[in-house]
This record gives sequence, structure tokens and C-alpha cells, in this order.
Amino acid sequence: MKRFLGAAIAALAMSVSAEAATIKVGVVGPFSGPFALQGKNFKAGIDAYMAVNGAKVGDNDVEIIYRDVPQADPAQSKALAQELIVKEGVQYLAGFYFTPDAMAATPILQQGNVPMVVMNAATSAIVTKSPYVVRTSFTTWQTSTPIAQVAKDAGVDKVITVVSDYGPGVDAENAFKAGFEKAGGKVVEAIRMPLSTNDFSPIMQRIKDSGAGAVFAFLPSGPTTLGFVKAYNQNGLKTAGIKIFSPGDLTQESDLPALGEAAAGVQTTFHYAVSHDSPENKAFVEAASKAIGNPAELSFPAVGAYDGMHVIYKMIEATGGKQDAKKAVDAVKGLSWTSPRGPVSIDAESRHITQNIYLREVTKGPDGAYINKEIKTFERQGDPGLAAAK
Ligand code: PHB
Repeated sequence: MKRFLGAAIAALAMSVSAEAATIKVGVVGPFSGPFALQGKNFKAGIDAYMAVNGAKVGDNDVEIIYRDVPQADPAQSKALAQELIVKEGVQYLAGFYFTPDAMAATPILQQGNVPMVVMNAATSAIVTKSPYVVRTSFTTWQTSTPIAQVAKDAGVDKVITVVSDYGPGVDAENAFKAGFEKAGGKVVEAIRMPLSTNDFSPIMQRIKDSGAGAVFAFLPSGPTTLGFVKAYNQNGLKTAGIKIFSPGDLTQESDLPALGEAAAGVQTTFHYAVSHDSPENKAFVEAASKAIGNPAELSFPAVGAYDGMHVIYKMIEATGGKQDAKKAVDAVKGLSWTSPRGPVSIDAESRHITQNIYLREVTKGPDGAYINKEIKTFERQGDPGLAAAK
């Protein structure tokens, strides 16, 4: 009897382990080229999450497969997402730094039975393109709305807006204008520049000529934002007293060593600062620093990726590792947890993340390096852009 039981248990264990699968997650992002540091932050966030929580969910191994889209390139993004689903058999798609890349992959999710966890792309409308999209980053409506009130409270009445001419830039422009004019201010001019713009001197001249007391700016973080803040200084806008108000993409921590004094005093609103003071962030920064190698390279895409993995692990748990996109997405609707950025939840209706937005100012931190120092909290902000996106 004992021997029989032993054999039965062994057989059961074998059948259980035979059912355990490797769950593949396909991650699309910029891993080479000018935005490679942003992709490196995706990977650091993912590696940190798996180092802290293990590379298994239940009996299932989790494997990450990376695909490189160096710059916004919707056709390449769609082709790689398709290849990940069809050839690699991924059960989840994740990553997506640029909006056009995320948008382009949404039409294949339902047929592929694959949820998409957006770890950065920030145009409000992305979540409306498929019921299988969940977002753990932010939207530019969410981050640009509070800064409008901050600008008005600072005594600024006239602002010129300058944005990259694509989804998140247009959203940021609309969000700022709506908030600033509601507060009684006026947007005197709105400039949209091509995403490829890298000579900002003519723009700086237009800002000076506009008569505005401040500029609101959105560009996607990377060489773009670094170049813009440098040009703002080099063209004398800072010394002329023209202030900058913007979402925090403009002063990501990985740019601060190169900007130095040029960024000092700039106020931004954003969902995450590497210097955020909480035990969860301390643990995150330690794990992500180890993963990225050089802690000075850490920036916000790492936290979007870290929380994105949390959502994916919950989805794998809920489906027992079986491929069922609807069940997976349903399981994380309303999910709440304490992120390194603060308390967050996935809004059950929009599938976008509700979170605190912080007002920060670039100042020297305790060890002499520049940080985004949080000075005020706008609690539990949803996405005001979703109404506009419908
Ligand atoms: C986007 O393309 O949606 C995007 C990229 C970088 C950012 C923000 C938004 O910093």
C-alpha cells in the first residue's frame, strides 16, 4: 500500500510538473540607438522585479524575450509584436516606449489572445484601442494637468506651449491649456515641432518673441529633452527670467548629471522621482541599481516596467499559466498595491493606472548630485484625458 501510494504521488507530481510551462513575455522597446538608455531602464525594472520576486509564478517559469525598435517606428513595432506572438509564442506583450509603437500593436491583441502591458507610452487613447491593453506608466494628460495650476500660482499669466508633434505632445498641449485657462491664465501661442527636431535655437527665439512669461514644454525623454533644456539655457531664456513648467519627462534623473546647473530650479510634475522617500522605493532603487549597473542611469521607465511585471505576475497567477487574455486582464481590473512611486491602482474601467502626481524641483540632493526633489503631492490622480480620447 505504501509503495502504491508513493508511486501514485510520484505520478501526480510528474503530471503537475508536466503541466507547468514557460510563460514567455515579449518586450518591445528602444534597446539601441539614441533612446537606448530608456530601453535599458525597461530591462533594469524587469530584472529588478524578477530578482526580488523570483523568475517563477507558481510552477511556471517566466521568460522575457526582448525586441528592439530604436526610434518610433509603428510598422517595425507591429511586425515584431506579430513575430513574438506567432513564432515565439509569447503569452504577454509589454514595454512600448513610444506611443506610435504601442498603437500599432493593439489591433493584433484580440486575435492573438494576448494582453499588452504598456510600460511607458503615454497618449491617453492607447487604452481605448483594445480591451486587452493595461498601462502602468502615466499619461501626459495626467502629468501635465497639475503643472498648469502650479504655473498660475507662481504668478504667471501668459504661457507659450511647445510640444513634440505626436500623440503625447498634443495631449500635453491640450491638458496644459485646459488647466491653465481654467485657472485664469492665457496660452498666447502653441508650437508643435517635429519629433525629429534637434536644433531648438529657432524655437527659443520664438519663445522670446512671444512675450510669454513662461514656456510649457513636452518632449519624449531622451536626447530630445537634454537638448531642449541645454538650448533654453544657451539661448538666454533662463537669464531673461522666462520660466519653464513641464511634466517630468524634461528633467529625468539620467539627464541631470549632464545638465547640472542648467536644470537647477526647474519645476515639473510627474508620477515618479528616483529620490521618492519610501521603504518600497528604497528597495526598488537598490534592486534596479544593481540591475542597471550605474545608478546614475536610473530613470522613470524602470518603475513603469517594474510595476508592469507586477501586473503580469498577477495575470499569470490568475490564469494558472494558461493563455486566456480576457481572464488575465479581468483579474487586474481594480488591482491596487504600493508601488515604489506610492499607492497605485488599475482603474477597472479604463485599465490605466491611478497614482499620485508630485510637484518636484531640481535641486542638489544630500550627496551633492542633482535630484527631482518632491515638494507637493496631488493625490490619486486618474487620467483626465480619457474623456477627450473617446
Ligand atoms: C510616448 O511616445 O508616448 C512617450 C515617450 C516618452 C515620454 C513620454 C511619452 O517621455
